[in-house]
Amino acid sequence: MTAAAKSLDNPIPPNSQLAQGHLLGIEGLNPLEIAYLLDKAEGYVDHNRQVDKKLDLLKGRTQINLFYENSTRTRASFELAGKRMGADVINMAVEGSSIKKGETLIDTAMTLNAMQPDILVVRHDQSGAVNLLAQKVDGAVINGGDGSHEHPTQALLDALTIRRRKGTLAGLTVAICGDIAHSRVARSNIHLLNIMGARVRLIGPPTLVPKSFERMGLEVHHDMRKGLKNVDIVMMLRLQMERMQGSYVPSTNEYFHFWGLDYEKLSAAKPDALIMHPGPMNRGVEIATDVADDIDRSAIREQVEMGVAVRMACLEVLCDQRQPR
Ligand code: NCD
Repeated sequence: MTAAAKSLDNPIPPNSQLAQGHLLGIEGLNPLEIAYLLDKAEGYVDHNRQVDKKLDLLKGRTQINLFYENSTRTRASFELAGKRMGADVINMAVEGSSIKKGETLIDTAMTLNAMQPDILVVRHDQSGAVNLLAQKVDGAVINGGDGSHEHPTQALLDALTIRRRKGTLAGLTVAICGDIAHSRVARSNIHLLNIMGARVRLIGPPTLVPKSFERMGLEVHHDMRKGLKNVDIVMMLRLQMERMQGSYVPSTNEYFHFWGLDYEKLSAAKPDALIMHPGPMNRGVEIATDVADDIDRSAIREQVEMGVAVRMACLEVLCDQRQPR
């Protein structure tokens, strides 16, 4: 029996928020649930390296990916995950759908709901839109990123990447750097890392690190070299221009000078510190090309690989909560 198949024997931990049948955010999950999803995903990593990747665990189930925002990694990853698990998967993008004709989110959701999907993976530019939709449909809903609120599967795939490289999450110091204000990736990671016992440092210009984080007791730095001192993990974020109204940074050149990760700034971190980025990267803006492509230090490609395994685990667990096989 493969590790993936064996992991099915373990029951979901007690008092699981996952038992409600949705994955809307990391906030509110407990350490056992997170570890459970990561362990299950771990079982799919080797499976995904085999020639034959097809399983039939979700045979007969229907998955709809409803994406109101652009996506390369997340959408392809959810599509592959669903197909590898044996589900029928369709992708709905805003372009070419009735959303362009003015249909509301709820009308679109109710229309798709009438086709009896088992899982809806939703990405939306408004924070809270995915939670609202989850209250209206019968199937499981997975948040594929809502505004600057949460992106739970990204935090889970980051956690799996870190755990595989460092053996644990507890006790590590993780720096999250750059445009934290607009980042759902940062929010989900802050929750997950706190829940799992890692220390989080936020590094960025005052305009891009909300004061509310400091008030929550998180360690905030406005100087890259000081903030990166002795960290185990350096998580870089994209400058999310599309979410900015007005000017948050003087110019991308100046941004790179102060906040872009290059070897000089990286030298403040531990010698074996891991470099991460959720993608898409803006090379020369938040990260230097040689650092991003450093095969010894950068885990950026591995994050993408872990994404498929994590999403297979999430699909399986949520489908089982709704309707056990
Ligand atoms: C992120 C997202 O969409 O929130 N990307 C991703 O899902 N891999 C981060 C970003 O767009 O910068």
